[in-house]
Amino acid sequence: MSANRPAAVVVLAAGEGTRMKSKTPKVLHEICGRSLVGHVVSAARELDPAHLCVVVGHAREQVTAHLDEHYAGTRTAVQYEQNGTGHAVRMGLEELGPEAFDGTVVVVCGDTPLLSGETLSALAATHTTDGNAVTVLTAEVPDATGYGRIVRDGATGAVTAIVEHKDATDEQRAIREINSGVFAFDGRLLADALGKVRTDNSQGEEYLTDVLGILREAGHRVGASVAPDHREILGINNRVQLAEARRLLNERLLERAMTAGVTVVDPATVLVDVTVTFERDAVIHPGTQLLGVTHIAEDAEVGPNSRLKDTTVGRGARVDNTVADGATVGEAASVGPYAYLRPGTRLGTKAKAGTYVEMKNASIGEGTKVPHLSYVGDATIGEYTNIGAASVFVNYDGESKHHTTIGSHCKTGSDNMFVAPVTVGDGAYTAAGSVITKDVPAGSLAVARGQQRNIEGWVARKRPGSAAAQAAAAAAGEVDAEG
Ligand code: UD1
Ligand code: MG
Repeated sequence: MSANRPAAVVVLAAGEGTRMKSKTPKVLHEICGRSLVGHVVSAARELDPAHLCVVVGHAREQVTAHLDEHYAGTRTAVQYEQNGTGHAVRMGLEELGPEAFDGTVVVVCGDTPLLSGETLSALAATHTTDGNAVTVLTAEVPDATGYGRIVRDGATGAVTAIVEHKDATDEQRAIREINSGVFAFDGRLLADALGKVRTDNSQGEEYLTDVLGILREAGHRVGASVAPDHREILGINNRVQLAEARRLLNERLLERAMTAGVTVVDPATVLVDVTVTFERDAVIHPGTQLLGVTHIAEDAEVGPNSRLKDTTVGRGARVDNTVADGATVGEAASVGPYAYLRPGTRLGTKAKAGTYVEMKNASIGEGTKVPHLSYVGDATIGEYTNIGAASVFVNYDGESKHHTTIGSHCKTGSDNMFVAPVTVGDGAYTAAGSVITKDVPAGSLAVARGQQRNIEGWVARKRPGSAAAQAAAAAAGEVDAEG
């Protein structure tokens, strides 16, 4: 256990986030595949705190359900009325009980998703090493509008107070060092000071930031730790900031991938979720979104213009202009251009789902190809089989779905309908244009289509004088002349 391990982390997530103008509570808005509060809880967990508590209030059923589902084991405290960040922390400490805050308490806002676990650890370390009563994480920002300003003593440079934007004088508003909303506190001193916070400010709220001045006046050590990168503490209050945070986090994720040996041709047009993983020498082409638990193996190439969700792409596979969800693409397999792989699609090694091909709940064996214009739903296809162009696996009878099984080394004709449930044996062939409704034994040729009938002279009799009739007459003349 680290000496800097905090006794507790309290995450503030009770506010409505009115500036988001949304029916979804602010902290449940997502960037890069994770909710804002989820990013904060994940960073907080890296500190390995003895207790982790999220203060919920606005839409608390929704926020609590989200935490239960994705971050099991996280405690919640309810702040029934949003009377300010100080009040929120008070609710958190009440929920945890005095034993839980005997030590360092880290407070984080639920709307700062870019904050990293490393920065939090560094803050906790500074706090312990310097023996502070409180250490605030600050940053120098280009535009401090809306943030609390860090007021320092002109002579010593020590932090004297945090003044909220709305309560600041013009002189204070010119300060560019701001409060990130992240603090490390001595838990007992924090609990004590919270009882003394007043509400005589422009918002009539209990400001957590006032604790700083209270502790300082009582003669305790107040410290500040300046974040190395101000972009990390971006607080999301509106959708413009939400998009900005998404862009920054995406950049960070892609930089990490590129540093580890992934080629990202145009990072500005590639979007990834935090849960996406890569192996070296993977290549990502422009216009590609990689979402959910997606993995791109070594030497695989994805894009351009593809969206892959919860999909695994095997070594050396090629996926071009494709939408895939819940699919597994085997080693050296080929997908697209213009393919749609739906949940349960499994392409084996060197298999192919080609142009305008849709697949769902289908296992395609090694070396098997479905090259053109086809729908393969609820099917198992063996190895080294070729499915002719424009084939449909007719899986739905209007009430339930049925399965089609096709063996290995089969050659099915173009424009086949496989009316499920149906089985085609190993090594079988089917004729073009067949509607396969009965099982085809291994090694046989199935022909299931109407016989062709030619009615000679029909055009001359039924469409006399038409362009078709003239063309037919000319063709007959030519044959006569040549013959
Ligand atoms: C807060 C800080 C400000 C800092 C900024 C950084 C205070 C008083 N202000 O301002 O100094 O620069 O964050 O982003 O602390 N919350 C509750 N209960 C409440 C009020 C807020 O849980 O009663 C939660 C919100 O859900 C949010 C966080 O606290 O996650 C911050 O609240 P917000 O309203 O965004 O505060 P800011 O105005 O951004
Ligand atoms: Mg905020």
